[in-house]
Amino acid sequence: MQLSYIIWLFFGILISYNIKLYIDSQVQYEIKIDGDSISMNLLGKSIGNHGLEMACKQLQDYINVSKLEINFQLNGLTHIQTLLLTISRFKNLKELNLQLGNNPIQNTTASNVQALLIQLQNLESLYLGLDGLFTHQGRVQIIKSISEMKKVHTLQISLINTDLGDDKIDMLLSLAQMRQLKSLELILMGCSLTASSTKSLQTLLYKLPKLDNLVLNLYGNKIRQDGIDDLSAGLYHQRQVKGLEIELYFNNITSNGTETLMSVTGQMINLTKLHIGLEFNYIEDQGAKHIAQALTNLQNLNDLSINVASKNFGFLGYESILLAIEKIPYLNSLKLIIGVNKCGPRGADLLKKVLFKHDKLKTLILDYTENYIGDAGASFIGEGLLSQRKLEFLKLNLNFNSITDRGALDIVKSIHTLKHQPKHIDLRLSQNKISDRASKEILRYISNITQGIELFEFELLGTALTNATRDDLISTYRNLKNFEFIVDTIPPSYWDEQ
Ligand SMILES: *[C@@H]1O[C@H](CO)[C@@H](O)[C@H](O)[C@H]1NC(C)=O
Ligand SMILES: *[C@@H]1O[C@H](CO)[C@@H](O)[C@H](O)[C@H]1NC(C)=O
Ligand SMILES: *[C@@H]1O[C@H](CO)[C@@H](O)[C@H](O)[C@H]1NC(C)=O
Ligand SMILES: *[C@@H]1O[C@H](CO)[C@@H](O)[C@H](O)[C@H]1NC(C)=O
Ligand SMILES: *[C@@H]1O[C@H](CO)[C@@H](O)[C@H](O)[C@H]1NC(C)=O
Ligand SMILES: *[C@@H]1O[C@H](CO)[C@@H](O)[C@H](O)[C@H]1NC(C)=O
Ligand SMILES: *[C@@H]1O[C@H](CO)[C@@H](O)[C@H](O)[C@H]1NC(C)=O
Repeated sequence: MQLSYIIWLFFGILISYNIKLYIDSQVQYEIKIDGDSISMNLLGKSIGNHGLEMACKQLQDYINVSKLEINFQLNGLTHIQTLLLTISRFKNLKELNLQLGNNPIQNTTASNVQALLIQLQNLESLYLGLDGLFTHQGRVQIIKSISEMKKVHTLQISLINTDLGDDKIDMLLSLAQMRQLKSLELILMGCSLTASSTKSLQTLLYKLPKLDNLVLNLYGNKIRQDGIDDLSAGLYHQRQVKGLEIELYFNNITSNGTETLMSVTGQMINLTKLHIGLEFNYIEDQGAKHIAQALTNLQNLNDLSINVASKNFGFLGYESILLAIEKIPYLNSLKLIIGVNKCGPRGADLLKKVLFKHDKLKTLILDYTENYIGDAGASFIGEGLLSQRKLEFLKLNLNFNSITDRGALDIVKSIHTLKHQPKHIDLRLSQNKISDRASKEILRYISNITQGIELFEFELLGTALTNATRDDLISTYRNLKNFEFIVDTIPPSYWDEQ
């Protein structure tokens, strides 16, 4: 793969307007070109309309582009017609990822977006981000155009913070016309979805063709028992899916809701990928047992992510989930977000056994924030890590776990000793009780690994280090390659209050 990076820096031309532009926005365009694929990420760079015009001038030369990824979210744009026109000339485009959300774009532009979609008749994959854009009527028109795209088999629509309450969500029903669709992702975070909206989702899932991959991000809505019932009834019609991601963070789902949802999930026996997000709900131990029950049916899984961090979920629920994971035949990706659950050293010991069983993980993400695992727990997790033989990506969050020098060093020494060093490691040991001496030793171990990997991220915040040690660590490791490090201190009096 030949990847060329071209970086354009725009310096102001010496007329007042442009000088102002440069000073205001420091626009830096980075376009990545790889064959016929182009990617440009300007998220939150405040480039404004003028900056966008410049970006379009750069883009228009790549007339043969087949894959285009552009992120212009949060850029203060009001007029995007030129951009849409530029894209409409790319007749070979097969994959388009266009993120326009959170710009003050005029509402009338919805019809230009619609016109663009009508012209892109060769498109096979579309990822469209319209967060907080247009009026309901405008969005209805855009969705209608999407549903008429004959070749699109992979579709993602993001409508974060868009009011889809009551029957407004019905606009998505037209997507059911897309008989060729294989993968659908709906990002409907904070869309005021209530009981009546989940009825529409149920209808949509019922009418859609049989999908291979389904992602429903329903973060921060008002989905309760009846909502879960509707959703589960809809999912029942899609139980052939191979990939399912369902994000229900911050709704109002109880153990009974979890039971309904997981009884359908447990019938999706061909799932290879399951991501389930139930953080900040009320699932309790009983709900966790329903998750475990479903997992025992899903013997084809290789990519599992479970997020059940919540205060009212105890050891028994945790234990049932981990025992079920241990019984899955083979996993290459495991993500467990089980913070704030008091799983303790016993829970860490259980995790160690799971890691012994699944010793060929490529990706391991563990968020055990505030789980009272202590030094013994940290040592168990360290031993579990040592079993890993193929790890490429490791993220370990052990913040707020009463870990002292011994536990912290055990973890770091284990990572240092890994036979197969991951390319990317993210370790967080903030808000623990680590001394000046141990923190220096930890940094020595870490710095010894950084040469061999792409990136090591290390967070050590809220510690009782002296300022001198903090300053020493910062000056010693600030310029270390492949290393991102944040450290700070808190006054020792803070610890007396704990
Ligand atoms: C685009 O493709 C056509 C036909 O393959 C070729 O003639 C032309 O030079 C290409 N244009 C660019 C800018 O690469
Ligand atoms: C678009 O319409 C919505 C709803 O009518 C309105 O709140 C919003 O301010 C309009 N946006 C612009 C950029 O005019
Ligand atoms: C799972 O796959 C098998 C073999 O392809 C198929 O016969 C079966 O119907 C599928 N099960 C479901 C629930 O889709
Ligand atoms: C959660 O749902 C129950 C009914 O299932 C309701 O009584 C309760 O008030 C809801 N809680 C919140 C925070 O919405
Ligand atoms: C959960 O379901 C059980 C039996 O199915 C029922 O007795 C109980 O009242 C339900 N709890 C809630 C909170 O709805
Ligand atoms: C750093 O790693 C090398 C081998 O890769 C080892 O010989 C050396 O002892 C290590 N240093 C520390 C401080 O761990
Ligand atoms: C340590 O540094 C912090 C923040 O940099 C500062 O507020 C604090 O006063 C310093 N403490 C001492 C004892 O110098």
